[in-house]
Amino acid sequence: MTKSVPFMSRPEFLAGSPLVNGQPIAGPGATLPILNPATGETIATLPLLGAREAELAIASNGAALGAWRTRAAAERAGILQSWHALVAQNREDLALPLTAEQGKPLAEARGEIDYAASFIQWFAEEARRVYGEIIPAAADRRSMVLKQPVGIVGAITPWNFPAAMITRKVAPALAAGCTATLKPSELTPLTAFALALEAGVPPGVFNVIAGDAPAIGSVLTGHPDVAKFTFTGSTAVGKYLTAQCASTLKRVSMELGGNAPLIVFDDADIDQAVAGVIASKFRNTGQTCVCANRILVQDGIHDRFAEALAARVAEFRVGNGLEGDTDQGPLITPAAYQKVRDHVDDAVRHGARIITGDQHHDAGELFHQPTVLVGATEAMQLAGEETFGPVAPLFHFKSEAEALALANRTRSGLAAYALTSDMDRFWRVAEALEFGMVGVNTGIVSNETAPFGGIKESGLGREGSRHGIAEFLELKTISLGLSGQVQA
Ligand code: SIN
Repeated sequence: MTKSVPFMSRPEFLAGSPLVNGQPIAGPGATLPILNPATGETIATLPLLGAREAELAIASNGAALGAWRTRAAAERAGILQSWHALVAQNREDLALPLTAEQGKPLAEARGEIDYAASFIQWFAEEARRVYGEIIPAAADRRSMVLKQPVGIVGAITPWNFPAAMITRKVAPALAAGCTATLKPSELTPLTAFALALEAGVPPGVFNVIAGDAPAIGSVLTGHPDVAKFTFTGSTAVGKYLTAQCASTLKRVSMELGGNAPLIVFDDADIDQAVAGVIASKFRNTGQTCVCANRILVQDGIHDRFAEALAARVAEFRVGNGLEGDTDQGPLITPAAYQKVRDHVDDAVRHGARIITGDQHHDAGELFHQPTVLVGATEAMQLAGEETFGPVAPLFHFKSEAEALALANRTRSGLAAYALTSDMDRFWRVAEALEFGMVGVNTGIVSNETAPFGGIKESGLGREGSRHGIAEFLELKTISLGLSGQVQA
């Protein structure tokens, strides 16, 4: 175990290995370092796997598919329930490597393990509720609809939620009777390997490989035996991968970037509005797809709200997530840090005024001070692109119509938020916002029971909820001819 990670009773979670057909798999020899973004220290090395290992993984998925899909749903549900129990039992030992490789404060990592576990439990329950249909098509004919697993699933998951994005895809796939090969981010593979070790599924049902991302990605999106491809990440990469899936016409699910507006109306409760912005904007140091990216504040409340928000943000404890009670961790990479700097510098050049933050934080190379700025406008980079960092830009607006127009003026359509105490406005705004998810008087929209996903260029399909398993099921129509007239 590296010196920067506290004692773990499951040290193997920190030294995990890619897993194919239930066995650790070695690559041709090259490795990648896994860095702790808080310290820059190497915490593990990742064998650099590529197309060959991806092909082996898919072959093993194929060999395991027949037996897995024909098991009773209750049996698959039982295996997922055991996985859920192990994840819950090993919460601390999973949270520690998650913080070490991703940087989020340990309290957030524990919350993410709970969130990840909730998807396993939810889909264990849903496995038993894959109901078909019988349709009285005509007096002498019945149509039946069977729901069957799509087959082999390829999945690629991001670094910002190294546990939850995996279980939100893999648990419904396995529950439906599919087999899966996952490529987690090369920045955060240790949590993925640890989760796979605990899954307890038969060999070949769930493989995890990482290394040469483009090579593995090409196999997962191009292999004719992969029936379904599911991805969480940037819109640009999602479009590219969707195009690669087109040659074999795979089913795809895409959870892509957002540019979430958060609207604070004059009638909002200030404390609730500040809490909503903190929960949405500063979760994971601003590194989520559903983070509020543009905070639109009505003129009558603007100054009081800005002052209250800045005072709260100035109190954040910034530092290494493994040490003490930190609220904000590092950015994931130097490029991510630089993007935050560029957005702040560009905003200031265009007339924004910083009311707290703005500087590098001396906790380490990738730490940025949590920042609030006022006077943001659509001319600034941060209005059109996700900052993915701890910067809260406040835009002014006068009327509800102006706020809605500003909020909807984006090609993204993942999440939006509104803070208001007026129930009529609540309905009007929730219905008018062109986003897949709307949070009203809350900064959190996601949990295992609710459909997660976006419209416009934020994606295709939904994860979580009772709809999440449908992404891994095909409908098959069976038409039954009856001899003679039967009462319809
Ligand atoms: C994401 O940022 O991609 C996921 C956030 C969530 O599940 O709440």
